[in-house]
Amino acid sequence: MIRITALMDNRSSENKMLINEHGLSYLIESTTARLLFDCGGSGHTLDNAHRLGLSLKDLDGVVLSHSHYDHAAGYRDLVEAGLGSTVLYTGPGFFEKKFAFDGVRYTDLSAGFDESFLTEHGITREETAGLKKIADGIWLVSGFPRQYDFETIPGRFVRQTAEGFMTDDFGDEQCIVLEQEDHLVVLVGCSHPGILNMVSEVRRQFGKPVQAVYGGTHLVEADHDRVEKTLAILRSLGMETCGFSHCSGDSAEEIACGHTEITTCHLAVGDSIFLS
Ligand SMILES: [Fe+2]
Repeated sequence: MIRITALMDNRSSENKMLINEHGLSYLIESTTARLLFDCGGSGHTLDNAHRLGLSLKDLDGVVLSHSHYDHAAGYRDLVEAGLGSTVLYTGPGFFEKKFAFDGVRYTDLSAGFDESFLTEHGITREETAGLKKIADGIWLVSGFPRQYDFETIPGRFVRQTAEGFMTDDFGDEQCIVLEQEDHLVVLVGCSHPGILNMVSEVRRQFGKPVQAVYGGTHLVEADHDRVEKTLAILRSLGMETCGFSHCSGDSAEEIACGHTEITTCHLAVGDSIFLS
């Protein structure tokens, strides 16, 4: 049995004592490991865990999907509050500064901590390059070939490199794969490289259908045609269940709800999924 609980999401749930804000954090509890996937953007993630009676003191690791503040900035608060885990899993290039650029201004979207913060707190960072096993049946995948041209990254997302600012390719993004006997469950943070590019690479790596996807699918800016096309291709990759969170977009979620062959839900703050 694996329990996945949303400790942070944009939406409130029926538990009105929890704080919802722009961001994502999932606690994954399996028989082999307790992992935190993303931390939201603030210490409210910890407040929500406390309110739900879920300890973050005995984690086996923390996985950050990418370095944007709404997924990674809460990590600093959790560590300073005495987070148990001393292992942090990130993708490559995690500490490059990330900005939103509107043609004049740059808004810093980075995680708000650096390597020295990790050293100061005795934390080991492990980088995912391709495929990495982190517990029995739990994998990380990074490095997503761009197979679907229509999954474009908005030009406003830029990264600062030694050569100057360039369009962000989100090379730091990674996802979690929960490997079941004959299918896969994929957890995504924000899907900046494109949800199809990510899911199709997972499917290729494992050779098993991706039966369920949970998380931020970043269809918030996708038009109707792209959403329909995305859902059709996800179906062809094996998807039967889609649990939306965070940046999936109300309209995309509404369109998916209209597809009777797909089971959908929104994982709002405090909501859990139990996988047998
Ligand atoms: Fe995000």
